[in-house]
Amino acid sequence: MKALRIGIIGAGRIGRLHANNLKSRVPGAELVAISDVYAPAAKEVAASLGISAYSDYHDILSDPAVDAVFICSSTDTHSPISIEAARAGKHIFCEKPIDHDLDKIKAVIEAVKASGVKEIPRN
Ligand SMILES: NC(=O)c1ccc[n+]([C@@H]2O[C@H](COP(=O)([O-])OP(=O)(O)OC[C@H]3O[C@@H](n4cnc5c(N)ncnc54)[C@H](O)[C@@H]3O)[C@@H](O)[C@H]2O)c1
Repeated sequence: MKALRIGIIGAGRIGRLHANNLKSRVPGAELVAISDVYAPAAKEVAASLGISAYSDYHDILSDPAVDAVFICSSTDTHSPISIEAARAGKHIFCEKPIDHDLDKIKAVIEAVKASGVKEIPRN
């Protein structure tokens, strides 16, 4: 079976936890990249795990080799990045909360439905 190639957006506390788990404990997952607006954070995680580092998450969204993203950045970025990821055809795991605004959450759900990708919100 082909591994699901994953990029993580956000190399803070929870992004690092998911990165380590995906790298070492999830059969079928291949962690390929991580991004953080604070470039040293992404570079530190990437160096320790042997993956690519970016400061702009668009580099992950535009990579045809990435099948799915883990959105682990600050809460206010979750809904816009989810919508962009869906439109880029990436499956999505989004850290909680998707947003604090119901209309923004609905917009994410609509974008996911329209794109046909799978989104797993962490409840
Ligand atoms: N830490 C936890 O145990 C935990 C548990 C459940 C949910 N969450 C959720 O996970 C999210 C992150 O939490 P955290 O504790 O890791 O916070 P954190 O502040 O440690 O990390 C967030 C990271 O996102 C980066 N970031 C911000 N904007 C970005 C962007 N546009 N692109 C890429 N990176 C960007 C920041 O530079 C920072 O490194 C929050 O929404 C939080 O509610 C965290």
